Amino acid sequence: MDKKIILSAAQPTGNLTIGNYFGAIKNWVDLQDDFDSIFCVADLHAITVRQEPAELRKNTLSTLALYLACGLDPEKCLLFVQSHVEAHTALSWVLSCQTMFGELSRMTQFKDKSRKNAQNINAGLFTYPVLMASDILLYQADLVPVGKDQKQHVELARDIAERFNRNFSDTFKVPEPYIPKQGAKIMSLSEPEKKMSKSDENPQSSVYLLESRDETIKKFRRAVTDSDNCVKYSADKPGISNLITIYSCATGKTTREIEREFDSRGYGEFKSAVGEAVCDRLSGVRARYQELIGEKDYLMQILKSGAEQARYRAMKTLRKVYRKVGFLSPEA
Ligand code: TRP
Repeated sequence: MDKKIILSAAQPTGNLTIGNYFGAIKNWVDLQDDFDSIFCVADLHAITVRQEPAELRKNTLSTLALYLACGLDPEKCLLFVQSHVEAHTALSWVLSCQTMFGELSRMTQFKDKSRKNAQNINAGLFTYPVLMASDILLYQADLVPVGKDQKQHVELARDIAERFNRNFSDTFKVPEPYIPKQGAKIMSLSEPEKKMSKSDENPQSSVYLLESRDETIKKFRRAVTDSDNCVKYSADKPGISNLITIYSCATGKTTREIEREFDSRGYGEFKSAVGEAVCDRLSGVRARYQELIGEKDYLMQILKSGAEQARYRAMKTLRKVYRKVGFLSPEA
């Protein structure tokens, strides 16, 4: 039987955090053996907020290097850059004519981002979920591994697929969001009620995959916690609970084991242990990244071959879509 298709993507904006790693990329690595896996660097999505062009180019390549450093294997999965495959924008136009203004207005990420970028609420920010639906539907993906924050967008992709299939006959696989059970949600170190985010303006809030060991250790030492000095997982102790989650991701130990290990040892010791464990866990990724980022030819070769394969697969779907909506084919 053919393997099921999974597809996911991350935007090449700034620095990926341990939240992206433990919450997403690590799961992708685990999935690549069992699925026909497609991972994309979503540069088209990135320009919905202002980008410095040279930075965007650099971040696109560095996101690929980081995917590889985390363990994605170009022999096992399809890796490519979104703007290399023109079918994404082409399908996006067709699907935007199947998506209602009201649906897009209800997207919570659009509402959030409009609040944060009040001076740049551009049309792309509004139609962003249609482009994301195109990413998914072009490859007939069965499953879309995403964090909770993207679930609403995957549900919209389902609605769009079903609507198109109804209006024009069966064309798209209707995808499911795939939220891995242990896909941990990592919170900010300075405001543990908020998700850790690569775009947080306070660098103390996030632990980046590509910072130094010293920086990481310092950030954990300064992490905001309550003051009762008891290492225990509990809803009213968001700071410590977050550190327990992170320690668990880094070591594979359970919450119970961690509480026992640090019973009566205090926060100072615990915070140092979390910092050390995260650095140990990331040291391989960090070292591999440094090697890979120096091998530009190798990276470009992966992207070239990825783009070719992705174009081939995407065009199959796009041709079908063009035919169904009634576009005249130029090839008689
Ligand atoms: N919008 C996603 C994010 O910001 C990235 C993304 C783009 C994506 N296209 C996708 C995720 C397709 C899953 C599937 O995180």
